[in-house]
Amino acid sequence: MRLPTWAMVSGAALIGLALGLAFTEAYGGYTEKGVLAGTAITARWAFPFFIAAWSASSLAKLWPGGWRTALLRRRRAIGLAFAANHFVHLGFVVVAVSQFGQTRPLFVWLLGGGAYVMIALMALTSNNAAQRWLGLARWKLLHATGGWWVLVIFANSYVSRIPIKPALAIPAVALIVLALGLRIAAALKGRVRAQAA
Ligand code: HEM
Repeated sequence: MRLPTWAMVSGAALIGLALGLAFTEAYGGYTEKGVLAGTAITARWAFPFFIAAWSASSLAKLWPGGWRTALLRRRRAIGLAFAANHFVHLGFVVVAVSQFGQTRPLFVWLLGGGAYVMIALMALTSNNAAQRWLGLARWKLLHATGGWWVLVIFANSYVSRIPIKPALAIPAVALIVLALGLRIAAALKGRVRAQAA
């Protein structure tokens, strides 16, 4: 049975919200520590959705068929589930900043804020009508730029956490390196095919 996109997206976001609230509760309730734990888990939960959506076309290009092609077919739903979950992260961020005085350097606001603008634009254009309206080239440029932007922020977040949370950060960085490797291999395969044609 094919789960409808709306069910996948809202289900994933509700689980994200429940995880955020459960971690907040488990780490001290409505305190700075609790809310930061909720903030962190919501980003952690969104991360695999992003990696799956970002790697879907590479996997299907490298090994067509089976679950890789199925993943590619559901890429839009998975990308939207990532976007919805990352807005749950934003909700926790807003509470951490406004209620518990969390601050970040200016470049974090610019890069993080910019990422949210890109995520919103990608989510709003993840439909056939928007794709037609933008034209394929512009649509691809928007989604490629947004995807790389988000990847760089995840990479920076997890690389910088290696010294403090190695058990979490090392597997996350390994997943990012794997996703990059798949991208490069898929691009090389495309180039070899084009030369052979
Ligand atoms: C201005 C926007 C943002 C702010 C202020 C912000 C703030 C935070 C805070 C307060 C935490 C939890 C506490 C901590 O571990 O430091 C956190 C965790 C995290 N955020 Fe964000 N965030 C923003 C945007 C983003 C974006 C756009 C991404 C990814 C594309 C992201 C990825 C992460 C990751 C990976 C974690 C760590 C999760 C973990 O511990 O597993 N954040 N963020």
